[in-house]
Formats: sequence, C-alpha cells, structure tokens
Amino acid sequence: MFLDLVYKYLIRRVLFLFPPEAAHVLVENFLFFAPKFLFRNKFHESTKTILFGETVPSPIGIAAGLDKNCKSSDKYLNMGFGFSVVGTVMKNPRKGNPKPRLIRLINEKALINSLSFPSDGSEAILKRLKKLKNFKDRIIVSVSGSNEEEIMENISYFNGHCFGFEINISSPNTKDLKKFINPESVNSIISKARNITDAPVLIKLPRIFDLPVHLDELVVYEDILRIVSMYKKSGVVLANTRPINDDRLKVGSGGKSGKPLFDTTLLLLNHLRPKFNIPIICSGGVSNFNDAKKLLESGADAIQIYTGLIYEGPSIARKINTELKDSKLLN
Ligand SMILES: Cc1cc2nc3c(=O)[nH]c(=O)nc-3n(C[C@H](O)[C@H](O)[C@H](O)COP(=O)(O)O)c2cc1C
Repeated sequence: MFLDLVYKYLIRRVLFLFPPEAAHVLVENFLFFAPKFLFRNKFHESTKTILFGETVPSPIGIAAGLDKNCKSSDKYLNMGFGFSVVGTVMKNPRKGNPKPRLIRLINEKALINSLSFPSDGSEAILKRLKKLKNFKDRIIVSVSGSNEEEIMENISYFNGHCFGFEINISSPNTKDLKKFINPESVNSIISKARNITDAPVLIKLPRIFDLPVHLDELVVYEDILRIVSMYKKSGVVLANTRPINDDRLKVGSGGKSGKPLFDTTLLLLNHLRPKFNIPIICSGGVSNFNDAKKLLESGADAIQIYTGLIYEGPSIARKINTELKDSKLLN
C-alpha cells in the first residue's frame, strides 16, 4: 500500500517527466544495480500455477519487451511475478528502429511503441541469463528472426538455459514477420523447434482485429491453434500489441499496448478456449486483479503484463497475488 502510494504520487510523476525510453533506461539501470534485499516477496502456496507440467509460484508474469536484454528479470521475479519473458532476443546486436519510438498515452493508460527489436545480441544476453541460475525455471526466452534458420539458431543457443521459448512472429513493428502468420509457417516453425528442444514452445500471436470483431474473422486464429495443438508442450500467447499509425513515431506506425487492449484479449480467449485444450497465456491490457480474474475464469493458463506495470507500479503482481490468494480462484 505504502509503496503503491509512493509510486503513484512520487516515482511515477518523476519518471513521467522524462521521455518514455529514457525513463525505461533509468529504471532498468536502477534495477540492475539495486541490492537484492530491496526486492523480497513471499509467494503463497495458493497462487502456485502449473505451466506445461511445471510449477511457477504465480500465474502473473512479465511480458516480452520489458527485459529485452536480461538485465532485471531476477528483480521482477522478486517483486512477485511468477515468471518473466526475456527478449525478444536477436542473434546479433541491433539498434532497432529510429527514435522517437515510444509514446505514453497517459489518459488511456496505454503506450505506443515502434522499437522493433533493439537487442544486445544473444551472446551478451546468454551470459547474463547464466548468472540467474536460481531463476532458470521461471524464465522464458522470446526469440525471433527474419527467417526460420535465425529463429532456430537462437533456440539452439538458449536451449537448456531457460524454462521455455516464446516465438515472436507478431511484432507489428517488424515487416519481415508477417510472412510467418499462417498455418504452414507456424507448422514448420514448431516442428523445427520441437526437433531442437524438449522445453515448452509458445507462439506469440498477432492482434489482427480491432473491436467489434466479427467471429468469422477469428478463423485465422483457429487455423493456427489447430496446428499448435498437434505438438506436445506447445501453446500460444494471446496476443501482441495492436498495430496503429501515429505520426509522432519516426517510422509512422507502431503497436499499442495497455488498457485499451483488454476487451479484445478477453474476447479472443473466450472464443478460442472452448475449442482448444492447449496452454493459452494472455497478454494485453491487464492492470489489476479484476482483469486477471476475468481471464483466469475464462480459462487462461497464465497472464503477462507490461504496460500495467508502468502505470500501476512495482506492487502490481503482489497485489494481484494477494487477491488471488484470498479469492481461492486457483484452488
Ligand atoms: C515498449 C514495448 C516493447 C515490447 N517489445 C516486445 C518484444 O520485444 N517482443 C514481444 O513479443 N512483445 C513485445 N511487446 C509486447 C508485450 O510483450 C505485450 O504483449 C503487449 O504490450 C501487451 O501487453 P500489455 O498491455 O500488458 O502491455 C512490447 C511492448 C511494449 C509496450
């Protein structure tokens, strides 16, 4: 409660005086150098969640993009997040798109980003990941690439060092990825990934439609989930940011995240869950216990948060966990 007030009335106000990317770097560096004792969280037995047959201490995780370079996942995990997605990792270091490429929409509690994939590269990231041995079973690595070979090289490189993989074929900021969004490509990607690793593999899906969605349109998702269901230890993340044009971004378009996405996240889940018995992790617009409750009640296996953390602060996971414990929703 105290931390919550300090964040909302002091820390967030100060951070929001900085351009969004500068604020992100500031927080990332603080977390990287901050002593461990500042971040301590005791998980309750009743928030334990089974993902792909393994136990994580909470179904609330960190979404890809927040810790692109594996600099702060241990701290996030100690803030009460059950798991963290590192990346999206690229094989070679990359700068991403030109700036400005991150905008706050404060009134909507949303962000628009066109970062594409700035990355320190897999070698530097693996070195950092190896130092987080105690957290290995709670870290998913998000990989991508401009072709299948690049994606597979990244999976081979990180295999054995993480809980599983998220394959990002859905960033609206990276042109090359659109070619993967069809059942044939997804089939090819998962079958190759399955030949490399026994670890869980998640396909991160795009957010193709805006509300109102005509249910017939959702057949694109159904075709992909049908393929994913054919493979063991495979699932999906529903879904990435929503494509949007915005002249304030240097490249003119990006992906929207945060509160405005929640209704589509829930709609996609409600449509797909009854049809498919595979792990579905929801990402998009979750900012409090009520959002998490709706998704878990509709059959989400777990939830990922990015933008909610920026607006609600570092106690977001702990608060959701406490209410989850009291609600006995997971029992
Ligand atoms: C600044 C920013 C960078 C992101 N980078 C990635 C990324 O590298 N890979 C990825 O799969 N998703 C990325 N995402 C998407 C998030 O993982 C998440 O799916 C999306 O923001 C919706 O969740 P939210 O509403 O909780 O933010 C990024 C999102 C933001 C806001």
